[in-house]
Amino acid sequence: MCNYIRNIEHFEELVTHSGSRESIKNINCYLMPEEIYKLTRNKTLCFQEMESGLWVIQNIHKEYVLLYLYANPAKTIELPITDIAATTFFIGTNKIFPISTQTVIAHLQEIGFFCHATSFRFSKMLGRVSSPETVILGGLEIRAAGAEDVTQILCLWEETFDLVANQIPDSNNLIAEVSDGNVICAFIDGVFAGVLVTGFTKSELLIRHVAVAREFRGKSIGTALVAAAEEVAQKKGLGRSLLWVIEGNKPALSLYNKLGYNTDGRFMTQYTLAAPD
Ligand SMILES: CC(C)(COP(=O)(O)OP(=O)(O)OC[C@H]1O[C@@H](n2cnc3c(N)ncnc32)[C@H](O)[C@@H]1OP(=O)(O)O)[C@@H](O)C(=O)NCCC(=O)NCCS
Repeated sequence: MCNYIRNIEHFEELVTHSGSRESIKNINCYLMPEEIYKLTRNKTLCFQEMESGLWVIQNIHKEYVLLYLYANPAKTIELPITDIAATTFFIGTNKIFPISTQTVIAHLQEIGFFCHATSFRFSKMLGRVSSPETVILGGLEIRAAGAEDVTQILCLWEETFDLVANQIPDSNNLIAEVSDGNVICAFIDGVFAGVLVTGFTKSELLIRHVAVAREFRGKSIGTALVAAAEEVAQKKGLGRSLLWVIEGNKPALSLYNKLGYNTDGRFMTQYTLAAPD
């Protein structure tokens, strides 16, 4: 059962009604206005009202939903009603959560959520240079993904990622990202080799779901995909690039360090509720 959030005004109404507007700033798990606009337009945001506030539910994948909690940390939080796995996350700085966040996490653990993964945020300031739309280098082509690339992207993600920890979208959400022009693919001599999804705020690029097919790794494709995303951001005049890396992912950490990204102290811990039996 899903009550859709119709638009940003409806979202604002629900959050105001939940009485969590002040407390949520402390809990640190919230949606940016750009995301609310996009997700309500694509009909992927639902809600469940509860005693302590509001669960906002993003239908991101057929195997799990992503939850945002707009609740009073002082009250006991009720379980969301879901027949698939559900996952939520909290963002803190320098490995410390504020007390209000710790309280909410303790409530979630009491009702069955478990710590799934911890990620660290990396960022880099972007220069302002112009560059070509398509880069072709020794058999490598980087271009915006089309509908014909969706199946290969989903297969690569399936074999590469923990779908929940990496918050991987399903085919419908991927198709929406593709038609918004947010997905970049790499091909070697015409063979699909890698993918990256971009997200944008008014001033920042967010790099998501970077993956290179196993047989093509170590050939600078990851480097080329990130460079292509940065070029798009520079053309838009954005000043900063951000990405998240799950703890212990050494190839990704080395890639981003080499490309000039540094940790900025922000970390995210994800809590997941298994699908009911
Ligand atoms: C991370 C990933 C995208 C890198 O792609 P790639 O095309 O192999 O990377 P590149 O060839 O451009 O490598 C650039 C640099 O990254 C680092 N790197 C790449 N693979 C590495 C590995 N297995 N171990 C250590 N460092 C590695 C190196 O510093 C490398 O520079 P070098 O070649 O001069 O040594 C790829 O390993 C991958 O798809 N991993 C699984 C998905 C994933 O973890 N994505 C990141 C999510 S945040």
